[in-house]
Amino acid sequence: TGIPSLKTVFASDFPIGAAVGRPQLLAERGQLLAKHFNSVTAGNAMKWDATEPTEGVFTYTDADAIVAFARANAMLVRGHTFVWHNQTPAWVFNDANGQPMTATAANKTLLLARLEAHIRAVGGRYANDVSAWDVVNEVIDENQSDGLRRSTWYAITGLDYIRTAFRVARQVAPNAKLFINDYNTNVAAKRDKLYNLVAQLKAEGVPVDGVGHQQHGNVSWPTGAETDAMIAAFLPLGVEQQITEMDTSIYTSSSESFTTPPADRLASQAARYKAWFDVYRKYKANITSVTLWGLADDETWLDSYPVSRKDFPLLFDVQLQAKPAYWAVIGAA
Ligand code: XIL
Repeated sequence: TGIPSLKTVFASDFPIGAAVGRPQLLAERGQLLAKHFNSVTAGNAMKWDATEPTEGVFTYTDADAIVAFARANAMLVRGHTFVWHNQTPAWVFNDANGQPMTATAANKTLLLARLEAHIRAVGGRYANDVSAWDVVNEVIDENQSDGLRRSTWYAITGLDYIRTAFRVARQVAPNAKLFINDYNTNVAAKRDKLYNLVAQLKAEGVPVDGVGHQQHGNVSWPTGAETDAMIAAFLPLGVEQQITEMDTSIYTSSSESFTTPPADRLASQAARYKAWFDVYRKYKANITSVTLWGLADDETWLDSYPVSRKDFPLLFDVQLQAKPAYWAVIGAA
């Protein structure tokens, strides 16, 4: 209908994206997606458990459908994600005897070979489609002195899984910008560890092009000032920055639960979105994409995280209608 299109409103600022699955490509959801967004991310369809559930057996049905929709509607595609500690099949971390890997040289070689084969296949398939890949996702743990999350990837390979992932991704998808993606990058302790890792990788010649800020927040957090500091902190690295998974929970604690969103929460949510978008526009020379982690409130990962309850974190409501947050975002342009 007659409301302004987000992608038109932000045409001179940055592409606007949404994370989707196949239901969001259909009927009125597909129309809403194509009207407002000029970038798309597969919420799950490009993850390892979706694309290579069994070693060497690749399934692309859902990812192909999302890429085809993007092509048909002249949208960019963000690739998400090659390496994560979640949604990775158990076989990846099993040794040659089918037992969970221990930290041996042979297992390190095997795991890095699997990683390379996976990225060659998936990255190669979408080399002409994906403009930015989240090569590694959530590898930082600010509570470790070296800042590196103690995942199985880390236990078996140390930092080499990150180096290998970026180098192979560059080879097979030379036209894609390569990102390191994480949450809570507005928290100084975490951001400093991420900064140091990216600085180290760049010094080694590992091809990291950008930092992805997930920006999962809620009605009171993070503030505009905290978001500003998040972007400003990475400017000295000279990397691209993208907002990759933004949403704004209406909850501020795990004990709250509403079946319909109270008006005051929707107003706070709108103010939060506006504060963030004001920052993104301020840094539009450095921010090359802004993606929401969902299309409308009828489908959001926050319905099951951190607890099971309905959440309403996006710009369009469960009936696909524009929310106060949508109007606030439009007003930030
Ligand atoms: C979420 C998906 O949206 C859910 O459907 C799935 O069940 C779990 O993963 N950070 C990320 C995303 O990087 O991949 C996650 O996506 C949300 C948190």
